[in-house]
Amino acid sequence: MQNNTFSTLFVGQNLIKLSAVDSTNNFLKNLLSKSEPLPEGTVIMADDQFAGRGMQENIWKSDPGKNLTISILLRPTFLGLNKQFLLNMAISVAINNTLSAYLSNGLCIKWPNDIYYNDLKLGGVLIENTIIGNSIKNTVVGIGINVNQQFFPPDLIHKATSLSEILQENVNLELLLADLCSQIEVLYLQLRANKGAFLRKSYIDRLYKINTPAPYRQNGEVFEGIITGVSDSGLLKMNINGKPVQFNFKEIEFLKL
Ligand code: BTN
Repeated sequence: MQNNTFSTLFVGQNLIKLSAVDSTNNFLKNLLSKSEPLPEGTVIMADDQFAGRGMQENIWKSDPGKNLTISILLRPTFLGLNKQFLLNMAISVAINNTLSAYLSNGLCIKWPNDIYYNDLKLGGVLIENTIIGNSIKNTVVGIGINVNQQFFPPDLIHKATSLSEILQENVNLELLLADLCSQIEVLYLQLRANKGAFLRKSYIDRLYKINTPAPYRQNGEVFEGIITGVSDSGLLKMNINGKPVQFNFKEIEFLKL
């Protein structure tokens, strides 16, 4: 086990730093498949993640040495399969809490677990569970946060931002990682202590476009809706023309005004 100075009980206590890897999620899943005895809270961190993966088979692009690209091993065996989304909520709130020490306002969580600063994406989460029987055996929590990247590829211009772009100064990656590990541990322990209702409220309080009329698209059709919340199973709850409707992740697209 590699030692570090994090003031946590377990998240980040075993920190594996890689100079280059395709994807930290792949690397961690590969270690797990070799039955390596990895402690819960193990963190894989890469300087250069050259084939990062995002949700819906997207690519996660990150300039080498500039950003946080990490994967954390958790074992939420206490969480019923129908409550899996609570872990997404805990992780998103933990990232949000960590970044709120750097940014006073404008931070929010875009359903299901994107981290936004106003209308721009600052970070994303890719959670991959291994399920055995009725419980989660291993969870790989992949987190990408744009920290010191100043220039984005053409397809991300006006869509993504970074902490340094907002603050106009660089942020220390090691300190940010230490804060993030602490926050994740706090919220994860709350989840384990059955404080799901509190986590849920923290997530909903930070939800992008909550209670705000905004345009969306489904199957090519554009409509106005109002986000009212998120169901226990992670469906987006909306009111459309006064009628309650729920959406799965792939079913709806957020549009810009
Ligand atoms: C998304 O917004 O689509 C999720 C992005 C998740 C990116 C992170 S970076 C570290 C980890 N390793 C990966 O390959 N992906 C996640």
